[in-house]
Amino acid sequence: MPSDSARPFAILVTGGAGYIGSHAVLALLDAGWSVSVIDNLVTGFRQAVDSRARFHEGDIADAALVARIIAGDGIGAILHFAGSVVVPESVEKPLKYYRNNTANSRSLIESAVEGGVRHFIFSSTAATYGIPAEIPVREDMPTVPINPYGMSKLMTEAMLKDVAAAHPINYCALRYFNVAGADPDGRAGQSTAGATHLIKVAVGAALGKRAEVAIFGTDYATPDGTGVRDYIHVSDLADAHLHALDTLIARPDESHVMNCGYGRGFSVLEVLDSVDRITGGTVVRRMEPRRAGDPDALVADNSRILATTPWRPRLADLDTIVNHALAWERTSAKR
Ligand code: UD1
Repeated sequence: MPSDSARPFAILVTGGAGYIGSHAVLALLDAGWSVSVIDNLVTGFRQAVDSRARFHEGDIADAALVARIIAGDGIGAILHFAGSVVVPESVEKPLKYYRNNTANSRSLIESAVEGGVRHFIFSSTAATYGIPAEIPVREDMPTVPINPYGMSKLMTEAMLKDVAAAHPINYCALRYFNVAGADPDGRAGQSTAGATHLIKVAVGAALGKRAEVAIFGTDYATPDGTGVRDYIHVSDLADAHLHALDTLIARPDESHVMNCGYGRGFSVLEVLDSVDRITGGTVVRRMEPRRAGDPDALVADNSRILATTPWRPRLADLDTIVNHALAWERTSAKR
């Protein structure tokens, strides 16, 4: 079946029922793309997938299923979000990460090549850098992951580089910094069970869903001693995927590795201050020792994505990110 929109082909989104994937699905649909989603619903939610998308429940490693989707839905590009994302869990269960993030990506990439898919966008991560020698971190700096999560993603980047050199497919690996917030119109947000991300935890605490926020380390080499991160609004990140896709289509001989961040960092205390400012309350803070494997500061140099694509941040404001995360968190007592 050919794509049913004015666009030349349809897009397959893996992990489209997850946090970032569901926002990308909205962005693609809003831009007029025809979208198919494959998700095994292990961590994703069926109701997170916009009803305008075709939904296929299943695994990206099911090559027969993926081949049927590529041919049947007229897929010309894949946005690959499916995977496991919990850093401490990757240390406990490395083989789970090398299966879900590396081996299953290998299978998906093979299905893409065999199905004649021309463009591939991969959710990579700032965790590929490990502890960067310099901040802000550029894409050409050494990639020395300090946990299996980062390594499992870096290995997929390596596969894509080799595959793009050998087959008629180009790719974009987007290295996400700290993704947070929710769709400004309240259509999607982060529902992941047991999420440990700072902003998710902090807005949960502000709404009384948890008693306090632990601050993991107050002796970092940062201005206030707490960890500094580059928080990017999930809808800006989804938008970056649209621009990456347009760039891959316009320049089929080029592939790209690009940081996705705003280029400025906020400390844990600054994030908690933002939450307090917005709610008018006071989140209870508990000082804790450092969490294993946390770098002091991680901030993107985003000049490459700004130079390569027309993407520009639209929601680059910490209070906006927190506000949207809070609004989403309020919508369900369960979350
Ligand atoms: C990590 C990964 C990132 C990945 C994300 C997915 C690294 C360097 N980064 O982000 O690539 O996409 O996980 O899960 O591995 N903090 C607290 N209290 C809390 C929670 C967090 O103080 O309850 C602090 C952390 O110590 C850190 C900051 O807040 O300084 C952000 O932490 P978090 O939101 O968990 O993300 P990262 O660990 O930075």
